[in-house]
Amino acid sequence: MRLALLGCGTVGSEVVRLLHEQSADLAARIGAPLEIAGIAVRRVGRDRGDLPVDPALFTTDPLGLIKRDDIDVVVEVVGGIEPARGWLVEALRAGKSVVTANKALLAEDGAALHDAAAEGGADLYYEASVAGAIPLLRPLRDSLHGDRINRVTGIVNGTTNFILSAMDATGAGFAEALEEATELGYAEADPTADVEGFDAAAKAAILASLAFHTRVTAADVHREGITEVTAADVASARAMGCTIKLLCIAARGADAEGRETVSVRVHPAMIPLTHPLASVGDAFNAVFVEAEAAGQLMFYGRGAGGAPTASAVLGDVVAVARNRLAGARAASESAYADLAVRPMGEALTRYHISLDVADRPGVLEAVAGVFARHEVSIATVRQGPAGGGPAGRGSDAELVIVTHVAPDAALAATVRELRGLDIVGSVTSVLRVEGGQ
Ligand code: NDP
Ligand code: HSE
Repeated sequence: MRLALLGCGTVGSEVVRLLHEQSADLAARIGAPLEIAGIAVRRVGRDRGDLPVDPALFTTDPLGLIKRDDIDVVVEVVGGIEPARGWLVEALRAGKSVVTANKALLAEDGAALHDAAAEGGADLYYEASVAGAIPLLRPLRDSLHGDRINRVTGIVNGTTNFILSAMDATGAGFAEALEEATELGYAEADPTADVEGFDAAAKAAILASLAFHTRVTAADVHREGITEVTAADVASARAMGCTIKLLCIAARGADAEGRETVSVRVHPAMIPLTHPLASVGDAFNAVFVEAEAAGQLMFYGRGAGGAPTASAVLGDVVAVARNRLAGARAASESAYADLAVRPMGEALTRYHISLDVADRPGVLEAVAGVFARHEVSIATVRQGPAGGGPAGRGSDAELVIVTHVAPDAALAATVRELRGLDIVGSVTSVLRVEGGQ
């Protein structure tokens, strides 16, 4: 089995190392020796330490490498949309199996890759693209294909989980926790993709596509990051017996006409400390799957890093190599359900709202009236000393209100109207609550 490796950075160099260290075992598991035939990189002259590989294998011509007749499997660990899309479409159409960790490409245009794989009769595997080392996509794609998945809730971004866990543990603000994450090497120099939720949204699209047999792209995913989460939000969550996590949530539901649809969203949310995802700390990932017959399943582990991600890549390499030797191919993409994606306004969720209000008769009635007008049912109300509204507006009590489940649009409209009330000094915190009743 001859392999073209595209990319030799954090993940690619670990693929090389593991392939070298385990070559005898891998050959035995596949039934044929596995050999790296070439490695495409951007800079051939880059210092790659003591990587156990012949320097003559490096090239700056990925397409030339892919087109070689002796290549069986193409492993792409470069990232980004182009030129990776062109390379992989070329490989798949030519009947070469592809293993990729490229979540951005799969979420933006997975259809192009699946179509090319079908055209070329080739395998397309991408276990490493979501939650690094955690075996998750193949359980969704194979093991759970006899069941009906209703909901997938995940912590799929390690950087933001590290930041939120640090805020929860130390009471630090977002900026301080991000600084620590950067110093420890969890956050990149430009942390936008992680802290603004783009990385998690790409993974949510891939998970939803597999779970619901529907093509879901990153553009279909409602996305909010964690930059607005404050130390006060985290303290409010604690006071409610909750913690805050950046969640990706993909769920079945019905639209107003009763048609089955899916909603896919990424945003910070409070979850009860008793929920299995609440104990997922540090930079770990976990995905909680709820299926009709299987019930609740949880997948947990390292979602990033060279070696953990390379472990998932190599698992895929063994699978596609075995298929090739057997003259077989894995089942094609399953997108038969073709469900519509519901807009965020129709997603059902609960809100936790803190507001500073005047402490005088009739205030609670006026606030409750806003919820009633938007048909949002209040679950709990707690009043305490003011959290510090603007001076001169009589803000001398804090109300903390948790709602029952309602459409997100109704909840958002409720908050908008509350902000306009004279008796409300300020709405100090608005967070969704998930994983409860
Ligand atoms: P790196 O930036 O560390 O490595 C990228 C590699 O691609 C480098 O070897 C680089 O060459 C090469 N490269 C870049 N542009 C080109 C080009 N135009 N032609 C040829 N080679 C090129 O990325 P990672 O290893 O971190 O990530 C790779 C993929 O894996 C991405 O899709 C990422 O999303 C995914 N992933 C990464 C995880 C992680 O923890 N790092 C976890 C899960 C998925 P050179 O060495 O010369 O610079
Ligand atoms: N940046 C990602 C994270 C790792 O923090 O989880 C790659 O998916």
